[in-house]
Amino acid sequence: MYHDFNYQATLASSLRGQWELDDVFLADQDLDFSRNFMPEGLARTAAIDTLNPFEQRILNQISAHQYLSIFGVVEEFILPFVLDHARPHLAGDDWRVRAILNFAGEEAKHIHLFKRFHNAFVRGFPVECQMIGPSEAIGAEVLRHDPLAVGLVILMIEWMTQQHYLGSIRDDGDIDPLFKNLLKHHWMEEAQHAKLDTLIVDALAKGCSEGQIDQIVSEFFQIAAYLDACLKLQSEHNVGSLERAINRAVDNRDWLIAQQHQAARWTYLGVGMAHERFKATLGAMSPRAAGRVAKVVAGMVVAPPADGGAVLTSSSIS
Ligand SMILES: [Fe+2]
Ligand SMILES: [Fe+2]
Repeated sequence: MYHDFNYQATLASSLRGQWELDDVFLADQDLDFSRNFMPEGLARTAAIDTLNPFEQRILNQISAHQYLSIFGVVEEFILPFVLDHARPHLAGDDWRVRAILNFAGEEAKHIHLFKRFHNAFVRGFPVECQMIGPSEAIGAEVLRHDPLAVGLVILMIEWMTQQHYLGSIRDDGDIDPLFKNLLKHHWMEEAQHAKLDTLIVDALAKGCSEGQIDQIVSEFFQIAAYLDACLKLQSEHNVGSLERAINRAVDNRDWLIAQQHQAARWTYLGVGMAHERFKATLGAMSPRAAGRVAKVVAGMVVAPPADGGAVLTSSSIS
């Protein structure tokens, strides 16, 4: 076995590490808009020389608004997926039932927490930031695919949150402590979700032929390409929000949209696809599947910069 995860131990870890919304962020708490909210390794706003430092910070905050909204979107399809995988097995292994229901409850709590942060953002930011959506439509598009392909997308997302928090520690200097706290608490619970989703994916993949796995990986790429197109549109919205917030048109607008799209592609797709644990699950399913995903990641990563992140140049995921 390529891991030692099991439902009983994962549930025990989850219960030991549980937190409540008020431990992270109070409903009437305000964000400090004099600071960056996102780690630079994810937002990639500090080196944009067509923006002054104030404008770079505004774009960093818009990138944080994107983070809150994207997790609002993805949690909306993660929650029904998890519940769908609890119901057929309610009479089975008690540890499994409890672990998966707890997983679902935590995702519902995350939706609630991200909304709380989003409300504080809206209260404090000078303009309305446009978002892709509605999240129900995006969720329905993802969920129409084979459950194993959806499970892999969710596994990619669970592991990527682990890297997001580690990135925020690395970029410690300037980030608002409340946002850092959000990434930390999400990281704590997602660590257990990633193990549970690994078990769900293992079970779904059991008995699949090489041809079926090949088809599943193609569907995984279809979902990733769809999400990537969403991120591109979101980058356009973000630059529009920036222009409204700073009250001027930016220079090299198309370049800035492409640069921010690349940052988002790495944040929401590349980080998870490149995660060692995600690669291990793929490798256990089929070395060929792992090879196909590795090839896409290699096309995304040109040169790892000093902070251990990565720069993207590929224009599409296919
Ligand atoms: Fe979550
Ligand atoms: Fe999760």
